[in-house]
Amino acid sequence: MRKIMSLCYTQLRYAALMVRHPHVARDFWFHLYHEARIADKLAQPSLKYRLPIKDVGDIFPGIYAQEYSLESYCDEYGAVSPFEARVLAASIRLLKPKTLFEIGTFHGGTTVQIALNAPADAVVNTLDLPEDHPLRADRDNVDLSPERLGKRYKVSSVANKIHQLYGNSMEFDFSPFARSCDWIFVDAAHTYDYVMSDTRNALAMLRPGGTIFWHDVNMAFEGTCRALAEYANSNQFPIVRVRGTTLACYRS
Ligand SMILES: C[S@@+](CC[C@H](N)C(=O)[O-])C[C@H]1O[C@@H](n2cnc3c(N)ncnc32)[C@H](O)[C@@H]1O
Repeated sequence: MRKIMSLCYTQLRYAALMVRHPHVARDFWFHLYHEARIADKLAQPSLKYRLPIKDVGDIFPGIYAQEYSLESYCDEYGAVSPFEARVLAASIRLLKPKTLFEIGTFHGGTTVQIALNAPADAVVNTLDLPEDHPLRADRDNVDLSPERLGKRYKVSSVANKIHQLYGNSMEFDFSPFARSCDWIFVDAAHTYDYVMSDTRNALAMLRPGGTIFWHDVNMAFEGTCRALAEYANSNQFPIVRVRGTTLACYRS
């Protein structure tokens, strides 16, 4: 009964707002509609290329009780969402990986959270295109001006744990890292061919018992979803999407 009363009261207040300030009321709904559309798009899995969805607590038992830290986290375009940052950070604290690899540095905001939560003697390798690489002209794949590359980790308290690598992930020589990485984050170009190639390389770098995360696994990036669905459907790699995120995850 109290809930119904409260709902009626809200409706009455909104009706009064419509009468007294029609612009405010219209803008309110417009804003809400847009927010809902953006949130919807972000969380929506591809309708065509589906992965099984799992709760993060089922993928990493104990993760909900796990402490983690975030430093200067910024919810900016191209970065991970607040919940995704927590999932990545807590998984690292839980697993204590020593050798970590990120494909796609960008501003380095996520690199900071990765390094911050890794053990003191861990090394976080992070790969991005060199400043003068011709692919930087391809706005579909590269959304970053070179001078901003890694700008967040460079001023962080964990810069000493981060090792910047330069190269096109399609041509980069990952062989020195073969079977040596405990935790990998794939978040560079999102087209099918790149994600197939980055995933092949990530799997080759993974140490037995290691973990891979991918970002932007949603309907806005069908190429990413298609590539991961193909790996998952091969029945060799049980890749799942983490509920409430655009992250996919594989534990070997
Ligand atoms: C979505 S951003 C990465 C976001 C970052 N991981 C984060 O969470 O903040 C994609 C990055 O991948 C880089 N990139 C795109 N294509 C690449 C390629 N072929 N090889 C290496 N890096 C690439 C871009 O320059 C860009 O910085």
